[in-house]
Amino acid sequence: MGFLLVATDFVLGASTVRDYAVIGIVVILTLQVTLITAKVVQVLLATRTPVEPVTIKSTAARRTTFVTPTPPPYPNWSIETTKPLPYRPFKHNYHVTMGIRNLDFDDWIELDNEFPKFHDRKVARLEERGHELVATAPGEARIAALELLDEFRNWLPARYPTLFRKTDVGIDNLATGESFDILALNDPDTKTDPMEIAAKLVQDDLAIMLPGEDGQYYLKAGCIVLAGFWRLKDKLGMPLAEIHTSGDVPQFREKLQTPMERYFVRMKVDKPIARNNYFLQTDEDLGWSAAIGPEDSDTIGWDTAEYATDISKMHFRSERQTLRRLPKSGAIVFTIRTYFVPLTEIAKEPYVPGRLADGMRAWQDDVATYKGKRKYDKLVLDFLDAEHARQLAGGLDPEKEPSVYPM
Ligand code: HEM
Repeated sequence: MGFLLVATDFVLGASTVRDYAVIGIVVILTLQVTLITAKVVQVLLATRTPVEPVTIKSTAARRTTFVTPTPPPYPNWSIETTKPLPYRPFKHNYHVTMGIRNLDFDDWIELDNEFPKFHDRKVARLEERGHELVATAPGEARIAALELLDEFRNWLPARYPTLFRKTDVGIDNLATGESFDILALNDPDTKTDPMEIAAKLVQDDLAIMLPGEDGQYYLKAGCIVLAGFWRLKDKLGMPLAEIHTSGDVPQFREKLQTPMERYFVRMKVDKPIARNNYFLQTDEDLGWSAAIGPEDSDTIGWDTAEYATDISKMHFRSERQTLRRLPKSGAIVFTIRTYFVPLTEIAKEPYVPGRLADGMRAWQDDVATYKGKRKYDKLVLDFLDAEHARQLAGGLDPEKEPSVYPM
């Protein structure tokens, strides 16, 4: 301001061309200084303003006209001869990461000659305790569950034409003789849960996630029958973060929560993903590992589990999970396909015992606690080490180990 007053005095007293030139330069310099100052203030203010939380679009805003590509028939698929894919998704090291990869729509659901075993186990467990293994919230979740069934009605007969037939009202399973009337589910009085039908059509457990008012994704529908270590009734209605923190998933807050939540909000209908995990189970039931507690008990967990003593009972449990957004409802469908093999079987495969033993030794303490390591580690590591030594003595070349994950 003072500078401007001096300048004004100077202007009033100006008389020569030189005086006016000097005044011009002073005015230009003044304007430039003012502009730079304004810019600096603007930048400072911007850095102090708190970052707006991510605005999350509602499900409705995500509706699209996307149509799921019709898959070609699975090459030479047969309910007798097509074996489960031999996923061995462990590495010599272990790091907690999202571990997701892109998925081709043609590979969405994997079925094999264990379909009858999985189906029978599901039917038996649903008869025994269906009320706690399956649930669908009314409204949006039910609409999404019906959309999932409709997707299966189109996709499964195209991919597995020897197992499924699309009918005018639904879908038939040619192996089990089941005939599902999906149209009848639109009747508001029907008692049948669409998620139960969906789960009987595949080997996977199924869950549907929908965004709430707060933008978080909530578990709103599911048919979780063969999960082994967790129960739908404990997690139903929870948002993604609580589903994981309530189970003490290691390093969830530090490593997984932010990327996962972002992923859910941004997930596109045409970009499905998959991930694999693995556990060791000390007993033999595909449906529920009673070692961590009876399925009806209030508390379940490794703390109270017996120490494993019988290697022939140990099982390798690995899930292949997929996530995709449904085009009409915008809901996210989570499929969980379990691969369940006796440990003694997979240990016969080249490189497997050595790599699994290394992987287990690389589990950090929190991961080891989560996976119940101390209840079986001596038994399992002694066994794997001996098998690995046997393979090396038989000429196994560690340099030639394949390294394409999920192996
Ligand atoms: C990008 C998506 C997801 C990632 C990266 C993820 C990650 C994980 C991880 C690392 C674990 C520990 C066991 C393992 O290694 O798999 C876990 C456990 C679990 N996840 Fe997820 N998850 C995802 C999506 C979901 C969804 C959509 C559900 C909905 C039902 C879910 C339900 C669970 C449950 C129930 C457990 C077991 C928790 C317990 O032990 O109580 N996850 N998840």
